[in-house]
Amino acid sequence: MKILIIGSGGREYAIALKLLQNKHTLYFAPGNGATSKLGTNLEISDFETLATFCIENGVNLTIVGPEDPLTKGVVDVFKKRGLDIFGPSAAAARLEGSKAYMKGFLERNNIKTARFLSSSNLDEISKFIDGIDGKIVVKADGLCAGKGVVIASNKDEAKSLACDMLSGESFGDAGKCVVVEEFLDGFELSFFAICDGKNFVSLPIAQDHKKLNDNDEGPNTGGMGAYAPSPLADEKLIRRVENEIISPTLCGMKREGAPFCGVLFVGLMIVKGEPYVLEYNVRFGDPECEVLMPLIDGDLGEILLNAARGELREIKLHDKFAVGVVMAGQNYPYRSSPKAQIYVDKIPQNTHICYAGVSSENGEIFSSGGRVLVCVGVSDTILQARNLAYELSQSVKFSGAQFRKDIAYQALK
Ligand code: AMP
Ligand code: GLY
Repeated sequence: MKILIIGSGGREYAIALKLLQNKHTLYFAPGNGATSKLGTNLEISDFETLATFCIENGVNLTIVGPEDPLTKGVVDVFKKRGLDIFGPSAAAARLEGSKAYMKGFLERNNIKTARFLSSSNLDEISKFIDGIDGKIVVKADGLCAGKGVVIASNKDEAKSLACDMLSGESFGDAGKCVVVEEFLDGFELSFFAICDGKNFVSLPIAQDHKKLNDNDEGPNTGGMGAYAPSPLADEKLIRRVENEIISPTLCGMKREGAPFCGVLFVGLMIVKGEPYVLEYNVRFGDPECEVLMPLIDGDLGEILLNAARGELREIKLHDKFAVGVVMAGQNYPYRSSPKAQIYVDKIPQNTHICYAGVSSENGEIFSSGGRVLVCVGVSDTILQARNLAYELSQSVKFSGAQFRKDIAYQALK
């Protein structure tokens, strides 16, 4: 098949590597400095122009990586033009695009989540904050590139955060409505289901590492590493998430007139064995995707084309574990980092690199900031997979590279 991948990160690179196992021909919009070696990078961002490209070039399927084009309706545009595209409509993507919509949806469907208020009224918000004990979480309603959630340690701080968001000072229009909620104390897991509007198939449960430094210290990031499957979720918990969260979500979205087709990514907080929904995302996680792709047995292109057509089938999985270690630029996540050439020595067996923030010049790859690449190891145990990922990281050199040394520590405790 000819397949277009929308996006430019390590997630899209991982999807591409998987698709290449079945010899599909790939296009990227826009892609990065390394995807150009896997297929053709397109400099087209307008959805109608991209759809025209797909029609004129016989592209059979489009896979959307990031949330931004989804919330802006790329799926709706492509479907109207008669194209197969895997991802949710703009209406269904509101599960990620609006935290107020998401929390209201959870409430309407009796799905467990932190007690909350969404409002644009500071007095109402202050009253709600006065009734919360302990830490308080303040969230901007709209998309803020992962920066719109702040955890306040006391009521005054929470009120001042809410005030800055409402004034537009912190996040512009995205903060004109805020969600305030109680802090949940537990551990986080990432649950992924491939959905076709009616049915779903769960993927192995993954765990991300959001903090910059070892032991979960330092600022929040987009994710510094991941592994899957996580032994922190047993079969019973997985069935509960499917029955109490995923199924009701798909039924609820159908009732709301926005059936969900695409990747449903539920950010879970497990509190004393109980799964709570922290958030929905409407796409693969990054770096979770990088560890999920090697676990899928079968043709990903076929799997996602069937899902896009509402005909999802069983997905076979390898009985393996994957660990991914993110290597980021020296100033991540605060500001951009200087460009640096990436040197790769030998690549051990059962490891590979997923390139993310990179550019290319005369065939050489350079870091272009943020999360630069992910070192992935795949093996029979988490420990072996982790050792492989770290062995690979020793082969990768660029000036200022920083990475965590403890990915998967919760599973290995
Ligand atoms: P979100 O984008 O809503 O998932 O929030 C980003 C991160 O903030 C999550 O991955 C959690 O680490 C943290 N977080 C969000 N909501 C809560 C909550 N109610 N309790 C504790 N931590 C939270
Ligand atoms: N790794 C978390 C995310 O992609 O949102």
